[in-house]
Amino acid sequence: MEIKLSIKNLTKKYDKNASHPALDNVSADIYEGEFVSILGPSGCGKTTLLRILIGLLEPTEGNIYLDGKDITTAPAAARSMGIVFQNYALFENMTVLGNVVYAAYLKAKKEKTATKSEITSRALEMLGLLGIRELKDKYPSELSGGQQQRVAIARTLIHNPSIMLFDEPMSALDVATRLQLRDVIKQIQKDFGTTMIYITHDQEEAFALSDRIIVMDKAHIVQIGTPKEIISSPADEYVKDFVVGNLYKKIDSLSKYAASGAQND
Ligand SMILES: Nc1ncnc2c1ncn2[C@@H]1O[C@H](COP(=O)(O)OP(=O)(O)OP(=O)(O)O)[C@@H](O)[C@H]1O
Ligand SMILES: [Mg+2]
Repeated sequence: MEIKLSIKNLTKKYDKNASHPALDNVSADIYEGEFVSILGPSGCGKTTLLRILIGLLEPTEGNIYLDGKDITTAPAAARSMGIVFQNYALFENMTVLGNVVYAAYLKAKKEKTATKSEITSRALEMLGLLGIRELKDKYPSELSGGQQQRVAIARTLIHNPSIMLFDEPMSALDVATRLQLRDVIKQIQKDFGTTMIYITHDQEEAFALSDRIIVMDKAHIVQIGTPKEIISSPADEYVKDFVVGNLYKKIDSLSKYAASGAQND
């Protein structure tokens, strides 16, 4: 398999004099078409890593390679990565369709790559894939959180991103919506073969979605492995407790949730 993204010895100190960096010598390779989660507790450096990958933040040390090319200092726009945030970040004064076509249209106009009607029909196709085509004329304030997140995904997907990154996209959603959206994301990955990097502090989510999981703690990568590898041979006590231990607790509470839902139906 081809390496899509190579992260080499990234260190980030927000403050030169800080005793503890926010990221400390982090390295990982991510393969083409892979779904990789970055799993770790609050403050371990997940968002810092993501911001460096998408070009919003420069590392203090280290390099990033996209398709073998050093992009460490490349501007965000040149990386063509798509990002979905926790808080949706939709344009409130635009319809669903407007949100999806806006940036794509500006880009196509500048680069003379597609007409407005081509972009509109592609946007409608994306909305269809995400199951929200009939909401195209609604405004974000008229949508549920899960629907807004689908719009955010469609808006990212229309650019045909080199990599899609998600920063805790489900944390504001209820369990049922999270489970639905999970399926949607997996289906998109299957249909488009997009490389995906998914940040979460939810063990169960990481295990359900990922080909491999990068486990972080206190600015470090502690383990990189498939869900199976991490369960069968956790790297240390931390992975055993925080990752595997909590995974079983989460599965337990999810099955209780499912059982109670089944009774209510
Ligand atoms: N702009 C900033 N300036 C200074 N320190 C920062 C800044 N952003 C983050 N940090 C620090 O860097 C460390 C890592 O933060 P980061 O936001 O990457 O964590 P995280 O893993 O995404 O946490 P969470 O799960 O809460 O989102 C933390 O100690 C945080 O306080
Ligand atoms: Mg974060």
